[in-house]
Amino acid sequence: PLKVVTLGGGSGYTPELIDGFIRRHAELPVSEFWLVDIESGREKLEIVGKLAQRMVKKSGIPMTVHLTTDRKQALKDADFVTTQIRVGQLAARIQDEKIPLHYGVLGQETTGPGGFMKAQRTIPVLLDVCKEMETLCPDAWLINFTNPAGIVTEAIAKHSTIKSLGICSGANSMMMDVAKAYGVGREAIDARVMGLNHLIFADRITLYGEDVTADFIEKLAQGVSDNKLKNIPDIGLPAEFIRALNFYPLSYLKYFWLNQEMVQHELEELRNGGTRGERSLQIEKSLFDIYRNPELCEKPPELSSRGGAYYSDTACSIISSIYNNKKEVHVVNTTNRGTTPDLPDDAVIETNAVIDKQGARPLAYGRLPARIRGLIQSVKAFEELTVEAAITGNKHTALLALAAHPLVPSVAVAENILKDYLAANRDFLPQY
Ligand code: G6P
Repeated sequence: PLKVVTLGGGSGYTPELIDGFIRRHAELPVSEFWLVDIESGREKLEIVGKLAQRMVKKSGIPMTVHLTTDRKQALKDADFVTTQIRVGQLAARIQDEKIPLHYGVLGQETTGPGGFMKAQRTIPVLLDVCKEMETLCPDAWLINFTNPAGIVTEAIAKHSTIKSLGICSGANSMMMDVAKAYGVGREAIDARVMGLNHLIFADRITLYGEDVTADFIEKLAQGVSDNKLKNIPDIGLPAEFIRALNFYPLSYLKYFWLNQEMVQHELEELRNGGTRGERSLQIEKSLFDIYRNPELCEKPPELSSRGGAYYSDTACSIISSIYNNKKEVHVVNTTNRGTTPDLPDDAVIETNAVIDKQGARPLAYGRLPARIRGLIQSVKAFEELTVEAAITGNKHTALLALAAHPLVPSVAVAENILKDYLAANRDFLPQY
């Protein structure tokens, strides 16, 4: 038997995940799938869980889908535990976005102060999960999709003995956009990826093994192609900058390089209908109306309007590579261990790694070129302080974390954001 447990099973993304496991059942024969949520998420869990059960029934594969709010019962003897929890739900995300914007600072789920705050709420919960796993399923793998995925994975790696990996749909979305530009399937494309979660840079881009990096960078410069994510404003970078950079960046990088334009855009959105979190809430409401339909037995196309669409491709192929000891190369969040000497060995980075039963072995990279090094290092310092603050609840460390972020312009602003954040999140911060 192969038992998979998904924490945050009531998420609107669950059909995406179930769809992936159904499609890969021949190589990844999951027999028990447990969707777990908390009491206040029970209604969503029932709706999306029943859809999951209908999807499995229609597919005819021998897999049972269990719905529960009893996390311990679910974790017992699990083989893989995946997390897609959102502590405080979308309401907390909306606060994360609005508070920095009030001070003219980027208000985004993971980039900037928002990532700090989400980490403060999430890390204590995930470390509790790890503690339970240490007795209930000590050999299980923890596959973390919960944002901020890199920071959360670093906290788990530093403070738990559970085997874990962090996963994001970002790199795969970049490769899908390259494939689209060349009119080929995703499997024809490969690249070398380096950076941190939501801060990755690709080069050595290949099309059936032929290097097309220069050609693709020119396509980016001319605006013929770009990494497009549903949740990120579609503003182009200057052509000469892309040529000079000579890397293919994830679109989250635009929050740094086009910061003023992005903040301007967010302030406009705030006036006309709301932040991305508010829009996600609307999308989610209509998705759950669709999921309620007892005739629906598949992942509905409407799900692709969420930013994390297709994440099950990443998740399932990585889990399969572990389970089947495939030694495939995937982009994951894992500890640096000398992959680049320009970051601490215990820092979690997002890069290509060989994935097998032993986990992830990142491919050697070497020095980070100066044109990307500074940003990666300073965001990593912010992340390291963010983890430490989340563990200790030390307000000095929290202030240093926010002040270290390249998008926070002054210590006074950092102090204000921290004060408002702590007040708004009192219910979710046992460590403070
Ligand atoms: C991207 C990121 C995910 C993130 C999602 C947000 O795809 O890679 O980490 O969760 O977008 O999308 P949303 O629809 O919630 O704004």
